[in-house]
Amino acid sequence: MAITFNPETNIFYLDGKDITYAFYINRVGYVSHLYYGARISHDNLRFFRAPGRSSKTATPPGIDQGGLSYQFFDPELGFYGTSDYREPAVHVQSVEGDRILNLLYDSHEILPEKPAIGGMPSLTGGETLVLHMKDSVSGFGADLYYTVYDDSSVIARRAVYKNGGEHDCRLLRAYSFSMGLPGMDYDVMSLYGAWGCERHIETIPVHHGVVSVDSKRLSSSATLNPFMGLIAKGTTEHHGDAYGISLVYSSSFVLKAEVSMAGETVLTGGINDFDFSWKLGAGECFETPEVVIAYSADGIGGMSRAFHDVFRKHIINPRYVNASRPVVINNWEGTYFNFNTEKLKAIADAAEGTGIDTFVLDDGWFGKRDDATSGLGDWYVNESKLEGGLEAVIDHVHAKGMKFGLWFEPEMVNEDSDLYRAHPDYAIGKPGRPRCYGRHQYMLDLTRADVRDCIVDSVNKMLSRYGIDYVKWDYNRNVTDIYSIGRDADRQMEFAHRYVLGVYDICERIVNANPNVFFEGCAAGGDRFDPAMLYYFPQIWTSDDSDAEERTRIQYGTSIVYPLSAMSCHVSAVPNHQTHRMTPMRTRGDIAHLGATGYELDTTQFTDTDREAVSAQVDEYRKYEHLILGGDLYRIDSPFEGNFFTEMVVSKDKSEAMLLVYRRLSSPNAESKRIKLYGLDKSKTYYIEGLDITAGGDTLIHAGIALKYPKEDYTSAVYHVREVK
Ligand code: DGJ
Repeated sequence: MAITFNPETNIFYLDGKDITYAFYINRVGYVSHLYYGARISHDNLRFFRAPGRSSKTATPPGIDQGGLSYQFFDPELGFYGTSDYREPAVHVQSVEGDRILNLLYDSHEILPEKPAIGGMPSLTGGETLVLHMKDSVSGFGADLYYTVYDDSSVIARRAVYKNGGEHDCRLLRAYSFSMGLPGMDYDVMSLYGAWGCERHIETIPVHHGVVSVDSKRLSSSATLNPFMGLIAKGTTEHHGDAYGISLVYSSSFVLKAEVSMAGETVLTGGINDFDFSWKLGAGECFETPEVVIAYSADGIGGMSRAFHDVFRKHIINPRYVNASRPVVINNWEGTYFNFNTEKLKAIADAAEGTGIDTFVLDDGWFGKRDDATSGLGDWYVNESKLEGGLEAVIDHVHAKGMKFGLWFEPEMVNEDSDLYRAHPDYAIGKPGRPRCYGRHQYMLDLTRADVRDCIVDSVNKMLSRYGIDYVKWDYNRNVTDIYSIGRDADRQMEFAHRYVLGVYDICERIVNANPNVFFEGCAAGGDRFDPAMLYYFPQIWTSDDSDAEERTRIQYGTSIVYPLSAMSCHVSAVPNHQTHRMTPMRTRGDIAHLGATGYELDTTQFTDTDREAVSAQVDEYRKYEHLILGGDLYRIDSPFEGNFFTEMVVSKDKSEAMLLVYRRLSSPNAESKRIKLYGLDKSKTYYIEGLDITAGGDTLIHAGIALKYPKEDYTSAVYHVREVK
């Protein structure tokens, strides 16, 4: 049993792979956090409880112990109205207008398997505790779900809110969890960015008051990823306590760390309550998205590996987790909108024989689309552009033994499209009020079932009519002008959450109807890179910035939460289209191969040397692919901190590894640099191919190796480290 309850102490213990999570029910009925961290035994942890400072605290009715309010406990689910002034997880308004809640323990049950969440992706499997809390006056309740895994060092949590009263109520805030951490010696780590520079790392100390990360964009966003790290002071990449919160959600979110007056850190978050309210009828429930909280005593790297393991084991479709990925040639940067059948065939011809095995036709094949101003929504072939129809390209590609992929942007419409002309009301916006454009397009109102049916029908028709093996699902603008025609005024603020439920619904109906199609996610690069999207799309285009030098930081930051196999990474032409930088082909390959790789350029421009280089690169990628898919990542040098970007990916049995070393700038008289290796078995002996070094794991870990570097900027090398018996 991973979950146990001690009725004498009222303590719940939840044991995962290397973690224990504990909380208890106090005599009033408050559900109070005790501990989350390294695996420990089931002692009576209530000696942990240190009374904090009090200031003008009221005592909830019926509690005749002076000053005893939830405020003095670390909450498992903070609520408002009865003397807890920290950030609540739930804020609810009754039909009379009051917002008073007193949520106390009611009962609990332990389930051998976690029930799925209605309409939202979540981790699969895992033993689950469901704890029922209730406000005895209003009948409002909250069910807290806790799931632990014997193969992963995380706890998954969510809350379900229930209106047990006789009248409607209104959720003003409906977060997924609360959790306490002792003290305030933490830095908050966030992954911030923008288009073309997604998931850069920022850390700031927690402080009295609230530190938060959020999105108000209806996408999980490039601006701030739905992740918050709580990194104990003194923790490094390899040692010390690191916690990470990752929300399995793709719409507007918020995560918060608040230091209370008692000097303790309280975490909470979930669906963003900005521009949110939800009418809950009598007897109705509201499900919140799941939050995955990882812990490691092995530093930030250990926290990342905990996330990588759980997402590979419990969210990415098992069919694809360890399956060899397509190596694509995508025509976007090679042609943009400017192509015809002959050009596409020529690109496929020039890729033949290099090991590239999938041709992906990007934006511009449908409707009347010659640029970004028209065609979105018209998912039928532009025959005047593609002479001979799509069949001519697909047959040509298939005849070469390659697979065929096609780009869609299902959630969007251009004003200049047949779909918009027929159904202008399908677009999000308020009649009579001019709307904002984003990339010349509008978003479709996925809160409406008729709009969703229309999208699903047209995309599925294309997928069943043609031999399409791969889909790239794009999403290129953020929402404005939120208004849904036909929805009651008092439900308009349900939009952000209803929209994403609509996204999940169409993903479900398109992905499930096409089990043999491989789906790649994309959102103008990485604007919707989150665990919920990984449930549908085993890999996601990481960024529209394909410059290898820039990618070192984007991919390093992305790996803080997401496994390498989730990152789609392409080799593109030089000078790079986003930065105009020249980088060597070798480096572009090495950096792109730290993920699900591909090429995005005009292969008809290849010289013989380029072709040979690509062939060799694809061979090398296949040699390391099993490590990229299933290995343990050790980040050694951060490109945010110095001239080097060094990473190792080690097989689970520690019998082999790949070592990638990248140096940004050359200098005539550079200091020497020793690289200590990580993740190897100290008792094994290893051979490093390419360097001709044979040494013990202990020596490689503690003494390290020294490398020579060419006199050139932006160079890299990859070495195979393998056990010798
Ligand atoms: C944004 C994507 O990130 C690109 O890869 C490309 O597919 C374009 N959209 C096409 O419009």
